Amino acid sequence: MNSAKVTKASPFSLNIDTIAPDKSISHRCAMFAMLADGVSEIENFLRAEDTLNSLNIVKNLGAKVEDDGNIIKISSEGIKESSEILDCGNSGTGIRLFCGLLSSAEGHFVLTGDEYLRRRPMKRVTQPLRDIGAKLDGRKDGDLAPLSIRGASLKAFHYESKIASAQVKSAMILAALRADGICTYTEPELSRDHTERMLKGMGADIEVNGLRTTIKPMTKLLTPLKIRVPADPSSAFFFAVAAAITPNASIVLEGVTLNVTRIEAFRALERMGADIRYEITQDKYEPIGNISVKHAPLKAITVEDNISWLIDELPALSIAFACAEGISVVKNAEELRVKESDRISTVVNGLKACGIEVEEFHDGYSVKGAELKEATVNSHGDHRIAMSFMIAGLKCGMSVEDVDCVNTSFPNFFELLSRITKVEVK
Ligand code: S3P
Repeated sequence: MNSAKVTKASPFSLNIDTIAPDKSISHRCAMFAMLADGVSEIENFLRAEDTLNSLNIVKNLGAKVEDDGNIIKISSEGIKESSEILDCGNSGTGIRLFCGLLSSAEGHFVLTGDEYLRRRPMKRVTQPLRDIGAKLDGRKDGDLAPLSIRGASLKAFHYESKIASAQVKSAMILAALRADGICTYTEPELSRDHTERMLKGMGADIEVNGLRTTIKPMTKLLTPLKIRVPADPSSAFFFAVAAAITPNASIVLEGVTLNVTRIEAFRALERMGADIRYEITQDKYEPIGNISVKHAPLKAITVEDNISWLIDELPALSIAFACAEGISVVKNAEELRVKESDRISTVVNGLKACGIEVEEFHDGYSVKGAELKEATVNSHGDHRIAMSFMIAGLKCGMSVEDVDCVNTSFPNFFELLSRITKVEVK
């Protein structure tokens, strides 16, 4: 397992047009292409471990995948039973969405993942799917992977979810497309909406009314996707924080999705005082454009609303909290405990190691801004923890252990970070 040593940064001014493509959209491209009649063409697909695992699974399910290094073409003649165990690696999105997709497919399927994924809760999708007739099982009565699925006919449903989770919503929408009648899915707060936007764009009969999505079953195959995947705002955000915490720094992050459910962390950084501008350059399935960030003195904020819109960025935002004046507070974020690591505890312990006063709550934490101190922090196999503490290193120098996990979402992170400062990986 590799470790990284990051050196304190000097002021910088950068334009980055190679932020990793969006992970959520890339997973969906691979999966949704299996529902189309013809060849889907995907440009700028994220070539990172998580999404390449999804692409590999789609191949194992019988899709034809051609990759010329630029555009990936996917065509499918329906989902086929596979002799392989379908390995989602580290990806919660992968395994949970495949549960929805495969619940109604003919055959038997086994989904698994790495040691971290095999500890994460799956009942949130297996239970509502079982309730509509899906035959799903796994350890702890279907809560833990490996999961086995035998495709079955699914009943129409009206499901009210207690959690604002795009993974649960997407799994249920995929199931609804093959159910025996009109279905509705209601969530307590809007979660990221790529599934609804993309499937609608492919011709699915999906209507969104506030927090309620109505899905009519597919009567024919969908129109193939023709898409260029935008840059991932969750990946871009590490560099937004880098600019916000470094005096006299500025950065332009190009071609990022500006979907409102994805840029809440940038809004939070703006509330802290950073100078942030958005410029929309195109709008196909979603608005896409450039985000510019300039350093300014930061002040503490409380984050307690629309948590699902910034859940993935909270570790990086917490580095900005540590550099702000005052005590920042995160509440209503218990979902952080079931991410790639228990991110409440990994953020709190990491910041404590850097000499920051932090208080842990069951659903969040508080951070008292002060001078970050150089330390050694372990990622616990969590890509966002690894990258967040490497960004903290721009302030004071930092050693981060177990950084291989960065490859799950952002393989060129080290190369981009080394444009700002010296990074040694060994
Ligand atoms: C994702 C949804 C979110 C997010 C994850 C990606 C998606 O998870 O944290 O990184 O692509 O649907 P939840 O649905 O569990 O909130």
